[in-house]
Amino acid sequence: MSQTMKAYVYRRYGGPDVVELAEVPKPVPRANEVLVRICATTVTSGDWRVRTLSVPKGLGLVARLMLGIVRPRQPIMGSELAGTIEAIGQNVTRFRVGEEVFGFPGGAMGCHAQYRTMAEDGGLARKPANLSFEEAASLSFGGSTSLHFLRKAGIEAGDKVLVVGASGGVGTAMVQLAKHFGAEVTGVASTVNLALVASLGADRVIDYTREDFAAGGEAYDIVVDTVGETSFARCRNVLRDRGRLLAVAAGLPEMLATLWVPLTGSRRVIAGPAEERPDDVRQLAELAESGALKPVIDRRYAFQQMAEAHAYVETGRKRGSVVVTVDPAR
Ligand SMILES: NC(=O)c1ccc[n+]([C@@H]2O[C@H](COP(=O)([O-])OP(=O)(O)OC[C@H]3O[C@@H](n4cnc5c(N)ncnc54)[C@H](OP(=O)(O)O)[C@@H]3O)[C@@H](O)[C@H]2O)c1
Repeated sequence: MSQTMKAYVYRRYGGPDVVELAEVPKPVPRANEVLVRICATTVTSGDWRVRTLSVPKGLGLVARLMLGIVRPRQPIMGSELAGTIEAIGQNVTRFRVGEEVFGFPGGAMGCHAQYRTMAEDGGLARKPANLSFEEAASLSFGGSTSLHFLRKAGIEAGDKVLVVGASGGVGTAMVQLAKHFGAEVTGVASTVNLALVASLGADRVIDYTREDFAAGGEAYDIVVDTVGETSFARCRNVLRDRGRLLAVAAGLPEMLATLWVPLTGSRRVIAGPAEERPDDVRQLAELAESGALKPVIDRRYAFQQMAEAHAYVETGRKRGSVVVTVDPAR
């Protein structure tokens, strides 16, 4: 008889109320997989997008094709986890039973559950000893997105970087990682979040409720838009020669701009889904262990409060990550 576990599932697209607690089969690791007993997970902006199908302009059809035309194909959301290895497949050599790990299945999701299997060579790394499970669970979504975009931009020490949306899940990692790579960083946030962004190492902060970043006369090598409210046309004057706009939350117009903008001059637009690289998860572990990347946790919820966690993320006002403790015994 197969064993079961508790998981939050969604069978249709919609508001936080479509998320239901269910008893589902407990996964069994294949030869090259480990079984993680999940202690903590997160609800991200990505979960909000896949639950509601609220996607950037022009991407609605693509989203349905990827996620399920009528109903979600993967009923368990959650792209980040941290926990303990409970079992390993016969060919696993990198991990042992009992080790504390964190992981990023990313778009494959499945972390809003008591257990998940992960390939040993997938996005899985040992939990940094200086982090709690909650902190480790919150490293990867913003962290790997930031590593991807900064790598694509070819960030160099001394670059001037502007991060729009510096207080969000992606923005808080982007500010810290751009600083780590030696950039001079300006963060754009609202009044209540300016102190947070400065505490992450930003050299300057701009309060978007009082000042338009595009009107200040400053120019940057890299502008990162994690909000999706700007455009290349708006950023052109704040981008230096060979400047790059990283359109993290891009819709179709910015994706098309990646093609035509280079034809018009030296500037570039970089957009599209971030690659999910196992090496990035391992790099995030090292960066967190060294203190270069500090997890930013806004609210913590108990497993029974999953729908409340979704509702809070849906406000679009979260600061850093929203964490859900799955197994409070740890
Ligand atoms: N391309 C990819 O592969 C990829 C990967 C990950 C995420 N994304 C996308 O990136 C976007 C950001 O994700 P996230 O997880 O960082 O979202 P998030 O955590 O939900 O972002 C919320 C934050 O954005 C701030 N914000 C809202 N409007 C703002 C504005 N006009 N100016 C400056 N800050 C503003 C909010 O601060 P206030 O409350 O102070 O306004 C809040 O702190 C999402 O659209 C997500 O889908 C894309």
